[in-house]
Amino acid sequence: MEANVERIAKHIEALSKFTSTPGEGVTRLSYSKEDLGARAYIKEQMETYGLLVYEDGMGNVFGKLPGRGTDLPSVIIGSHFDSVPNGGAYDGAAGVVAGLEVAALFQEHAITPEHPLEVIAMVEEEGTRFGSGLMGSRGIVGNLTEEYLNKTTDNDGISIREAMTHAGVNTEVPRKRDPKTIKAFLEMHIEQGPVLEEAKVPIGIVEGIVGLAQLEVTIEGKAGHAGTTPMEKRKDAMVTAGKMVGQLPELAIDEGYGTVITTGKLQVYPNGANVIPNKVVFTVDIRAGEEQQVLNVIDKTKTLIQAHSVNGMKIHVEEQLYIQPKALDLSIKHLLEETSKTHNITYLNMNSGAGHDAMVLSDVTPTGLLFIPSLNGLSHCPEEYSEPADIAKSVDILYTAIKELVLGK
Ligand code: HGY
Ligand code: MN
Ligand code: MN
Repeated sequence: MEANVERIAKHIEALSKFTSTPGEGVTRLSYSKEDLGARAYIKEQMETYGLLVYEDGMGNVFGKLPGRGTDLPSVIIGSHFDSVPNGGAYDGAAGVVAGLEVAALFQEHAITPEHPLEVIAMVEEEGTRFGSGLMGSRGIVGNLTEEYLNKTTDNDGISIREAMTHAGVNTEVPRKRDPKTIKAFLEMHIEQGPVLEEAKVPIGIVEGIVGLAQLEVTIEGKAGHAGTTPMEKRKDAMVTAGKMVGQLPELAIDEGYGTVITTGKLQVYPNGANVIPNKVVFTVDIRAGEEQQVLNVIDKTKTLIQAHSVNGMKIHVEEQLYIQPKALDLSIKHLLEETSKTHNITYLNMNSGAGHDAMVLSDVTPTGLLFIPSLNGLSHCPEEYSEPADIAKSVDILYTAIKELVLGK
């Protein structure tokens, strides 16, 4: 094994400390104090491994090992370093650590590549702070407008641009990267499901990623006194929301083929125990392997929700994010398969039910995604765990594959 398991474990442990919920999982919102701590740590390690550190206009962190060739496109490896609320220590972080470890191996073996190698740590993949996710990678491919950065706010009304500026990100630096400057993107991520663990296989080579949509539903009724307002005179936004949310799962079950639907976030206003809620805002996350399945369930969801706009209830549905299912690059997949065989590491070809930055970057550059097993298939919770030895196995594969990509013409 080339990769250093202890060094990997040390990085995972160090990054897990940058959380606003110590003892209750990792909560690391983009551009927060915890982000700044993790960002500084990642930059420090990048410099230790001889990388030139810089940030783009979104605050994505890059560490670059220059290549001998002038103006040759880079091979980029990495993932995101933000988290869900009370998440785990491996989602995103494992992929950033894998990138750091590949850079460490290039340094240990004094390899000067032809093409530059870049390690990347991206922001706001989860969307925990600003709603729609995959934001760092969407910035790189040019999908974010100035208006989006100025108008999209967190729960405290702080816009993305204000949060970036406050965190010291230079938002004048270009966000969109010229695709001609990228030769390939490789991401390692925890599987976040049970497949690899049940198959007792340490590596998954991802062929496709589900399509996903995130809707935000706002219901407006009328506030009132919980004690003195007769039932027949109420415009209770919470009761309407409850009816809707209870009906959504059937839409995914009826669509079949593994289609899933989730309401993970719900806010009640004014949120008083003795006040009839006048407003409820909740999210609907829809995913399926085929685009038509996603589109079908979006339509059915909107129809179901609008059917409740009766008795003066005002309803608004906003589509916050929509990404088609993605098939990943076959040549990169083949390279990862051959490299796994070289290392005598068994692998499984599989699809991803989770979204990843790889699904965004695959629009502009040949992209590969490797999975490692998740203990009990758990993720997005403090119990999330993956073996550092499995991260090391993925690094051995990535190190060999990337050497071929950066040394080749
Ligand atoms: O939601 C997802 O699939 C990813 O964890 N952001
Ligand atoms: Mn996640
Ligand atoms: Mn992730």
